[in-house]
Amino acid sequence: MDHPDERTAGAAKAAAAPGALETVLIYHERTKHRLERYAAGPETLDWSSQPDPFRRFEGARRIPLPLAGDRLTTPYSALFTPGAVPPRALSLESIGLLLELSLGLSAWKAYGPDRWALRCNPSSGNLHPTEAYLLCRAIPEIADGVYHYLSRDHVLEERGRFAERPSATAPRLQVALSSIHWREAWKYGERAFRYCQLDIGHALGALRYAAAALGWRSRWVSGVGSSELAAGFGLDRIEDFSGAEPEEPELLLEITADSWAPKGDPAAPVPAGSAWSGRANRLDPHPMYRWPIIDEVAEATRMPASDFGLAAIDRYPPRVVDSAEPAAALIRQRRSAQGFDRRGMLGAADFYGLLDALLPRPEPPWDIGRLIPRLHPVLFVHRVAGLSPGLYILPRRAAIQDGLKAALRSGFSWTKPAGCPDHLPLFRLAEVDCRPLARTLHCHQAIGADGVLALGMLAEFEATLAAAPWRYRQLHWEAGLLGQALYLEAEAMGLRGTGIGCYFDDLFHELLGLSGRAFQSLYHFTVGFPLDDSRILTSPPYAGRGPD
Ligand SMILES: Cc1cc2nc3c(=O)[nH]c(=O)nc-3n(C[C@H](O)[C@H](O)[C@H](O)COP(=O)(O)O)c2cc1C
Repeated sequence: MDHPDERTAGAAKAAAAPGALETVLIYHERTKHRLERYAAGPETLDWSSQPDPFRRFEGARRIPLPLAGDRLTTPYSALFTPGAVPPRALSLESIGLLLELSLGLSAWKAYGPDRWALRCNPSSGNLHPTEAYLLCRAIPEIADGVYHYLSRDHVLEERGRFAERPSATAPRLQVALSSIHWREAWKYGERAFRYCQLDIGHALGALRYAAAALGWRSRWVSGVGSSELAAGFGLDRIEDFSGAEPEEPELLLEITADSWAPKGDPAAPVPAGSAWSGRANRLDPHPMYRWPIIDEVAEATRMPASDFGLAAIDRYPPRVVDSAEPAAALIRQRRSAQGFDRRGMLGAADFYGLLDALLPRPEPPWDIGRLIPRLHPVLFVHRVAGLSPGLYILPRRAAIQDGLKAALRSGFSWTKPAGCPDHLPLFRLAEVDCRPLARTLHCHQAIGADGVLALGMLAEFEATLAAAPWRYRQLHWEAGLLGQALYLEAEAMGLRGTGIGCYFDDLFHELLGLSGRAFQSLYHFTVGFPLDDSRILTSPPYAGRGPD
């Protein structure tokens, strides 16, 4: 294979720590949920002493961000039409919008004495391990420096102020994402690292859609390794994190209001003499457990500072998106369904439209990085008009189809359903009522069976990791991106989705006849007609502040 992406994998391999591949494979195997036992996690949970869901930097100067999401009228369909959204200038207000519509709060919820916030980005268990940092240069009203986003208050916390103004005066915005493993491990134990990575994928998607609503582009910056990222964003400043849970650097995004003209060094170093401020708050004063394997897999999957290049991707005809709903409204109303109406039947056109949105095209969210699509949904179709219930597959790149055919059960039919658009690589594997199985498979959750469909995402696993173990993270990011696309597309169709991190890994593999590790399922999802729980009260996200 001669993708540039694959060509550089050798460099990444050379940089991986010895034993990294083995560590990742052991971690993955050990954190599988099995029918007879779940992956290791806490035996008891003290709900009254949950970790603080918000990281703050005490002593850091705060810059309130304007709230303007209500006034943004960009239709959802325009996000996918090149040139349809005039780019906003980079400013305090537009950056506020970017964050409000990606990682900002979308509502407060209350049930009895409990009160919790929801955000535009979903998160396994609503635990939100993802943190975001901005690097701003030459942006009006914002001093050059590094900022942490505190979603609870929709403010920037000034972490590092640059000593000198760099010579370039073109505005520049970069966003770094990190994970606080403990916030997730507190509840989920060893499997938590996977969930943190899936959440990063969702956050990536959330940022890409929000940027598109402002007419911006955002792209994953390759060539910046984990340690450079930690240094550039102050995550390795021991003195600022002493006594607090550490943050694991994940990736860097460059956000531009114009074309992709190079903006200089991908990770321009922090100027000498810059002043850092703020101390990270401690989220959990009394951690009850330790899960050292999470530190091990984190170390084994740190990204090397090599350039991953761009991959050639299959070409599909342009997508037709006709939702006139404002993107901001869909983004903020996105929720995970807790239950589905079992009578709901999805129209075939919507079904094919939903799957079409998952094909990699040079449009949001897939243009975040032109990477080889390595995740391929296997669908349990429960209720789609004109389509027999059964097991289906959507290989997201043509070159993997034969490999999948050879790896999956030999009795599968691989027939294209009548009425399926020509360009959509959807195949029926077997006609069967999968509902009882889909419920069992998803840790006995009814949402696996009650939606119109459920799906598992098969990753090209072993070969990808053998070339570069750090891509264990990247595979999960791609899965999270797929999940984010499903959430928003479902919302645009009047449906609702729910990410499913809890599933019995090998039960799914056995169902498909898979043995070995060539393909592994990394994330599941379900879509359907939601039932609302009227006992839960909803209030607005930033009620105290009002619109600016
Ligand atoms: C990676 C991931 C895994 C999830 N797994 C499950 C799951 O197994 N079961 C479930 O009911 N919800 C699951 N969810 C949904 C979360 O519980 C939900 O996102 C969170 O409570 C926040 O609510 P919201 O999505 O409505 O904002 C998952 C979400 C994500 C992002």
